[in-house]
Amino acid sequence: MGTEKKYKVFVSRQIPETGLDVLRQKCEVEIYPGEQAIPRHLLLEKVKDAEGLLCLLSEKVDRELFAHAPKLRVVSNCAVGYDNIDVEHATRIGVAVTNTPGVLTDATADLSWTLLLAAARRLIEGDHIMRHNKFTGWSPLFLLGQDIKGKTLGILGAGRIGTAVVERSVGWQMPVLYFDRRPNPYLEKTFAARKVELNELIQQSDFISIHLPLAAETHHLINEKVLSQMKKSAIIVNTSRGAIIDENALVKALENKQIAGAGLDVFENEPAMAAGLEKLFNAVVIPHIGSATIHTRGEMTRIAAKNLLNVLEGDPPEFAVNPEVLKKHFNK
Ligand code: DGY
Repeated sequence: MGTEKKYKVFVSRQIPETGLDVLRQKCEVEIYPGEQAIPRHLLLEKVKDAEGLLCLLSEKVDRELFAHAPKLRVVSNCAVGYDNIDVEHATRIGVAVTNTPGVLTDATADLSWTLLLAAARRLIEGDHIMRHNKFTGWSPLFLLGQDIKGKTLGILGAGRIGTAVVERSVGWQMPVLYFDRRPNPYLEKTFAARKVELNELIQQSDFISIHLPLAAETHHLINEKVLSQMKKSAIIVNTSRGAIIDENALVKALENKQIAGAGLDVFENEPAMAAGLEKLFNAVVIPHIGSATIHTRGEMTRIAAKNLLNVLEGDPPEFAVNPEVLKKHFNK
């Protein structure tokens, strides 16, 4: 078929070339060139003729967007989380939704530990002291943090990333508690992890790491009441989705030293963060970079592109969020 481009595809942001190369083989690809999220009105205009949309978690793919995109057959999210997409509606109107799980597990688990360690050992405060020339010499009571060895690790969401976080805890010999709808026999067998109710995990854990998807049931799962049940020495880490924590309640808990610290890669209203967080040294705050390694981002975009192309070609994508659509429309 030579170089004929069969499908019209819109890519909502500049992505690594690995992904674009896959798409360009068979698609006429238009890319929004900006470094920030595409303005909504432009996105709605650009999807008008698109058969495929490759987007990021910053794009809201809702009924309004679907109504503007009559030719759309697939939305390929370049992320594992897909709370930005109205999957129910997509399924109803026969649009396939795909995502990129697995490839970002290690990078995200690494970052969860980075945040945990940084918060436990007051890294940001120490860095600030050095940069502002405030270090006056070693002192026995200076910048005392939390020990990690033997402390209880509580995992909210024991899927791929939660599991990888537990795997990394071995050197610290931590008892592990987890909260999930489904049991995780691997964690139970290999790490003697115990599946518990949320309140037990909250009350018993020294370090709590969040790896749940954002959904109606998990929105503000960590709220004022739950925060008040945590140990005073507890540290909470979130690399999942910001809105799982009530961020204003967390600011209060950190201000009042109700808990010892937080490590946050994600925020409720990104790119903003709750007022007050910027002043709190017991919060380590970083800009949603869980999957931001060169290799991982390259692979995420390659997989997202391949998912999209497969659907357009009538083949099953590697990762389908609503596989029932594929069955119905592609008979595969
Ligand atoms: C995801 O994939 O859902 C992350 O939040 C972005 O890498």
